[in-house]
Amino acid sequence: MNMVVACLLFGVVSSTEPLAWNNSTGYPVENEKFELFHISQIEHNYNMSLHARLERDEKRIKTLAQVLIGEPNILLVNTTVEQGEMLGTLEYIVRIGVGTPPAYQFLAIDTGSDLPWVQCQPCSKCYYQVNPIYDPKKSSTYEEISCESTKCQLLGKQHSCKDHQCRYNVGYGDGSSSKGVIALENFTFGNAIISNIAFGCGHKNKGHFLNFGGILGLGRGDLSFTGQLRGSTRGIFSYCLVNAGSTTSGWLRMGEEAIPARAAWAPLMYNPRTDPSFYYVGLSGIMVGQMKVPIPDQVFQLSSAGKGGVVIDTGTVISRFPKAAYDVFRDTFIAQTKHLPRAKGISLLDTCYNLTTMPSAVFPNVSLHFTGGPILILTNNNVLIKVEGVDV
Ligand SMILES: *[C@@H]1O[C@H](CO)[C@@H](O)[C@H](O)[C@H]1NC(C)=O
Ligand SMILES: *[C@@H]1O[C@H](CO)[C@@H](O)[C@H](O)[C@H]1NC(C)=O
Ligand SMILES: *[C@@H]1O[C@H](CO)[C@@H](O)[C@H](O)[C@H]1NC(C)=O
Ligand SMILES: *[C@@H]1O[C@H](CO)[C@@H](O)[C@H](O)[C@H]1NC(C)=O
Ligand SMILES: *[C@@H]1O[C@H](CO)[C@@H](O)[C@H](O)[C@H]1NC(C)=O
Ligand SMILES: *[C@@H]1O[C@H](CO)[C@@H](O)[C@H](O)[C@H]1NC(C)=O
Ligand SMILES: *[C@@H]1O[C@H](CO)[C@@H](O)[C@H](O)[C@H]1NC(C)=O
Repeated sequence: MNMVVACLLFGVVSSTEPLAWNNSTGYPVENEKFELFHISQIEHNYNMSLHARLERDEKRIKTLAQVLIGEPNILLVNTTVEQGEMLGTLEYIVRIGVGTPPAYQFLAIDTGSDLPWVQCQPCSKCYYQVNPIYDPKKSSTYEEISCESTKCQLLGKQHSCKDHQCRYNVGYGDGSSSKGVIALENFTFGNAIISNIAFGCGHKNKGHFLNFGGILGLGRGDLSFTGQLRGSTRGIFSYCLVNAGSTTSGWLRMGEEAIPARAAWAPLMYNPRTDPSFYYVGLSGIMVGQMKVPIPDQVFQLSSAGKGGVVIDTGTVISRFPKAAYDVFRDTFIAQTKHLPRAKGISLLDTCYNLTTMPSAVFPNVSLHFTGGPILILTNNNVLIKVEGVDV
């Protein structure tokens, strides 16, 4: 069997855990789990689209890079930027019922944005999705909010008013976007109902090959799904994105009990100059095997002018370093894998190995050292992907 391995951070999750909810509060019972799916589980052409997927990831990262490195006042959310048509590679999805009775939708989880939205009938423009598109007319609990309401005002520049209706317009920098009205709805997870969630009812949406019904924004702002639940969960949530090919489950949890017993802590940092939905962490160093990658300290630092820094984004598949860090990181990795035959790069992945003759080769671990002490060890499954359609 021929096999080529390339570098990609990737994971597949599924769950058969039963769900339990607090019916009296309408909020998730602490420590309960939402099922998290991987996009490949609902997308028939998933294997075929690796290249397209990599390109989408590239587009998303270009916008992020603009935000992090370039003009600090450019927001990720800006619909006037028309560079492409795709929403980036949002790979992890949760299944949620919208409305009463619940219309089940797959929503991508995104820690890089706030407003939750779903495609909404009547569509003046909708892309293909696997489930029927949510229709507010068929829901007895759909309720539009007025333009004067606090939640509408939280949208800032992303909202406009017409006949007191709160209209929104969010874009993702790569040209994909959702436009519609802000409403309140009841969202159903398992057999519990979460009431009064403000969301975007998107009548005009742009984005190709998405297949899911919208986005569950888990960003740091007040309008994200987790931000709106702050009163009951203090905004605490945790998720588990398991390795590709793993048979164990992934999950999304909310509330204080979501904190794992042996959690390691790294402080989150604020950057008032950029999008308030980003979760910034401090990255103090990278190791490949036993070797510290010689990267100058300032490469990952968030400057007082609001430039640089490191954000955690579930919507991006491939972790990115600034070139100054990536080049030395890659060279350090290659130096420790000299005995393994290389293969030609694939798309944006430039470090590939031909494992035809060495199917069980062992690669060095990569560890990320965060400010405050925690170390995240990434094993082979977290730093390499078997590329389909080449030799495997
Ligand atoms: C449901 O929520 C109420 C109010 O917060 C709390 O008193 C009760 O213990 C919760 N029930 C469960 C099963 O968690
Ligand atoms: C919540 O309600 C559902 C059905 O409405 C029921 O099956 C479930 O047992 C209830 N959960 C609790 C904790 O009471
Ligand atoms: C996609 O790839 C997986 C993993 O290699 C394989 O099990 C599955 O059969 C492939 N699906 C299609 C439709 O080719
Ligand atoms: C989008 O960004 C461009 C330039 O980056 C700016 O001129 C424009 O006003 C922005 N649009 C919105 C709606 O913020
Ligand atoms: C949602 O359900 C609750 C009861 O669980 C109800 O009081 C509320 O009016 C419903 N509608 C909205 C828009 O939240
Ligand atoms: C991998 O190596 C084998 C021989 O060892 C060769 O036949 C094959 O073409 C190589 N594949 C790639 C993608 O380099
Ligand atoms: C990588 O880390 C795992 C888990 O900590 C460990 O079991 C394994 O031996 C490490 N591999 C190498 C090559 O050091």
